[in-house]
Formats: sequence, C-alpha cells, structure tokens
Amino acid sequence: MTDSAQAIEVSNLHKRFGPLEVLKGVSLTARQGDVIAIIGGSGSGKSTFLRCINMLELPSAGTITIHGETIVMKKDGHGGLAPSDRRQVQRIRSRLGMVFQSFNLWQHMTVLQNVIEVPVHVLKQPKDKAVEIAETLLRRVGLYEKRDAYPAFLSGGQQQRAAIARALAIQPLVMLFDEPTSALDPELVGEVLSVIGDLAREKRTMILVTHEMKFAREVSNHVVFLHNGIIEEQGPPEAIFGAPKSDRLRKFISSIH
Ligand SMILES: Nc1ncnc2c1ncn2[C@@H]1O[C@H](COP(=O)(O)OP(=O)(O)OP(=O)(O)O)[C@@H](O)[C@H]1O
Ligand SMILES: [Mg+2]
Repeated sequence: MTDSAQAIEVSNLHKRFGPLEVLKGVSLTARQGDVIAIIGGSGSGKSTFLRCINMLELPSAGTITIHGETIVMKKDGHGGLAPSDRRQVQRIRSRLGMVFQSFNLWQHMTVLQNVIEVPVHVLKQPKDKAVEIAETLLRRVGLYEKRDAYPAFLSGGQQQRAAIARALAIQPLVMLFDEPTSALDPELVGEVLSVIGDLAREKRTMILVTHEMKFAREVSNHVVFLHNGIIEEQGPPEAIFGAPKSDRLRKFISSIH
C-alpha cells in the first residue's frame, strides 16, 4: 500500500565509487510536511545521499520512491544500477527542487529568466503565467527589485535566494538543500536561513543538509546523523542535540560548537 502522505521513501540505499562504499544501506522516509535535517562530518555521504534521491548519482543498490512512485532501475552490467526509464527520472526530477552550496544559477540569464527557464521550457507553462509566479516568488525571497539583474551582479546571499526561488518555481513536492549557506560570507547566512525557515514553517517538505546546528534544531522535526555511510543516530531535534546517545554523535556535536 502506498501511503499518500509519504513524500520520499529511500530504502537500503547503497552507493559505491569504485572500491569506496560511500553509502552502506541508508533508509529514510519523509512524510509530507517533514523537515528533515541531515548532519554529519565531511565525507560521511550527505551530498551523495541527496544526489541519489534525484538521480544525479546513480545508486548501486536500493530503492527510491517519490510520492508513491518507485524509480525503476535495472542492473547496469558494472555492478551498479541505471534507470530503466529516462522519462520517469525526468518527470520525478522535475518535482524535486534542489538547492546546492554553490548556487548554480545560469550566469547568462537574468534572475527572472533563471526562475522561469524550467517552467517555460521543460514544464511548458505559458510564459506570462510563469513570469507571474516567478515575480511572486522573487517578492517572497526579497529579490523582486533584482529580477532583471544578472547573477554576477548579486551578492552570494542574493544569488542563493534566487536559486531558492528557481527551485520553488517548479512547484516541487520536496525541496532538497545541500549546505545552502556554507559558501556564504557569515553576514549573508542569516538572510538565506530566514527564507528557508519560512518555508519550513509553511510545512513544506524538505530535506536539508546543513552544518548550521542551531538552525537545524529550530526548523527540523527529524534529524539524521550520518557517519561513514550509515545512519548512526536519528530522532527529533531535542533528542539528537539535547541527549545524543552515540559517542560519535556526541563528539560531532561538541566539535562544531
Ligand atoms: N563522484 C565521485 N567520485 C568518487 N568519489 C566520490 C564522488 N563523490 C563523492 N565521493 C566520495 O564520497 C565520499 C562522500 O562524499 P560526500 O560529498 O557525499 O560527503 P559529504 O558528507 O557531503 O561531505 P561534505 O560535508 O564535505 O560536503 C567522500 O569520500 C568523497 O570523496
Ligand atoms: Mg557535501
């Protein structure tokens, strides 16, 4: 039975790069409205996990189900998996909003063009409708005045807010954030966290890789501590940050304060 409230279900995900097994059987369910924070040391597999969810990396084993639809994969002949149906992957990917550490805006397009690009050219939305939605989103992230500027003329915080507006423009089922503030100057972190915090308070489903522990504690309802490619501990933020059970988690938390 498919649980309609289930936004993402990842089951027993493995990923190896050659001899290196980066994910060693990770399972995670995000229900609609969940804000899941993923924390863990450098190299623990956080980005790889997020990238597998939207198939930017192909898992070596395991299943991924988005909104009740399981991505169909077949053996690729090299010990890994490949999607059986590229169109299914495209369709599912078009429902996931991804925000990376490094903004990844298209530099030759204005902010507004960045936001409407996928809605118009991939999702075939009428342009005037896409512009209307984009302008509303840009207002929400405080960038309406910058809609005709090119990314190079924006601060890092503004670029990241534009990237969030772009991800929201596809009306995603789930937002995936990979350390969205770690490339920012400290004084610009707050403006981006404030936008993400608003999304969390609206109960938008999100999976957020972050090293901002205070923020993770405030906005998430579930925290996952990844260590060496497995979930070492998970639970509500009060338990994870207030009463960590595993020594590794305790060490990790004390190392970043
Ligand atoms: N394309 C790749 N080819 C080979 N190894 C990779 C590749 N991508 C990631 N890795 C390795 O997989 C491991 C996990 O990387 P990943 O980027 O998922 O870690 P992370 O938890 O996101 O770390 P960070 O906090 O530094 O971003 C690392 O050892 C990394 O070197
Ligand atoms: Mg990473």
